Amino acid sequence: MSQSFQDSPKFLTERLLRDGYGGTLAEYRAAGGYEQWRRAVTSLQPAEIIDLVKDSGLRGRGGAGFPTGLKWSFMPKDSGKPHYLLVNSDESEPGTFKDRLLLEKDPHLVLEGAAISAFAIGARTIYIYVRGEYVYPRECLDRAIQEAYEAGLLGQKLFGTDWSLDIYTHPGAGAYICGEETALMESLEGKRGHPRPKPPFPAGYGAWGQPTTINNVETVANARPILEHGAGAFRSVGTKNSPGTILVGVSGHVNRPGVYELPMGVPVRTVVDQVCGGMRNGKALKAFYVGGSSTGLLPAKDADVTLDHDAVRERGVMLGTAGLIVMDEDTSIIRATRVLADFYDHETCGQCSQCRVGMEWSYQIIRRIEEGRGHPSDLKTFADLIQNFSGGKTICAFADGAAMPFKTALLHFREEWEEAIRRANPQMADSPSEEPQTAGT
Ligand SMILES: Cc1cc2nc3c(=O)[nH]c(=O)nc-3n(C[C@H](O)[C@H](O)[C@H](O)COP(=O)(O)O)c2cc1C
Repeated sequence: MSQSFQDSPKFLTERLLRDGYGGTLAEYRAAGGYEQWRRAVTSLQPAEIIDLVKDSGLRGRGGAGFPTGLKWSFMPKDSGKPHYLLVNSDESEPGTFKDRLLLEKDPHLVLEGAAISAFAIGARTIYIYVRGEYVYPRECLDRAIQEAYEAGLLGQKLFGTDWSLDIYTHPGAGAYICGEETALMESLEGKRGHPRPKPPFPAGYGAWGQPTTINNVETVANARPILEHGAGAFRSVGTKNSPGTILVGVSGHVNRPGVYELPMGVPVRTVVDQVCGGMRNGKALKAFYVGGSSTGLLPAKDADVTLDHDAVRERGVMLGTAGLIVMDEDTSIIRATRVLADFYDHETCGQCSQCRVGMEWSYQIIRRIEEGRGHPSDLKTFADLIQNFSGGKTICAFADGAAMPFKTALLHFREEWEEAIRRANPQMADSPSEEPQTAGT
């Protein structure tokens, strides 16, 4: 099942690894591009594509790992309403930058995959919601969309059939929360990006109240290779519950950071040592965020964990977007956590008070500890606070995501926090966390 990373197929990046590939329509078509799109429209039924994607075992690459074929099957049949596919290209999770590679270097792969996905769910309109700061990636996409229209690959009555498809890009305005699927829909509709409660779920009541599917860029890009090579070929890579390859975006203290397409199930240690050429300056690994900051961190002793949904869950974290942030022995976990707390405090939409207040308090407590002003009760207060804003108490998963780096930093690097508080309170005896709780910040 699982393959070595050297032998693993490159379903998504094969063309990018060729010298001189520029991602134009002519180059993409010369490499078989849009043939699967043509095949889908002219000779496949939507249900066949959904079954194929179900058989492939593809799971969403936007963070939650939800089975893609199953998600598509939730869309109503013969609803008589317009259906929409929203491609989530907001990519604002700290440590995540893999969709950007596809948008900039092979935008036609994203368009072809999105087109196939839209056909499968009965959508004749696709909106690609692009992170506000991604000005250049959006230009690449817009250029590719224009090329595809001019070549008759998008638009009305495609390939001599009655099928039509329009694709639009829509820029965000730099808000992380707009990557959350219901906030994305609100923003797309021209409203403030506040998540909506679920139910109703998007397949029943999505954008403009119509049946809608939201998928990540990398998820839809996989539609072409799955049609081209078959579900079996896709399943032959990766693990049983996490088949296929995944774009792993590695940042931090390694010699060769970057985006690498690797088989699911590759050990983190292999990614750091072999794929990325080892730790920078020969330093030792201290910790790593597994799949973007909201998935939590693990200490170096867990670097044998493999990058697949089951294995990381067993260690108490999540695979997320496979944005691996690598930290060396000189990294202060308190400082890293404070930087993230600052981010979450800035990005909470403020709709739920647990989240709004929880983010601000978290930031203040961590900053105080970092600056050498920690109070003996701070760790207990912080832990209680996390308890109060996490565990599904809010409209969306933002607060639960923020809780992950906080909880795991406290769990795995307790001594570092206690030491900082001891230094700030030399009169203290042993355990800072046993002190009574106070709410003051
Ligand atoms: C705060 C927050 C931010 C998110 N940002 C993104 C994002 O930038 N891109 C993305 O694909 N999914 C993001 N998601 C997940 C989406 O809500 C949704 O699950 C995903 O787009 C579904 O696509 P998939 O099934 O293809 O993975 C975010 C979720 C949360 C809670």
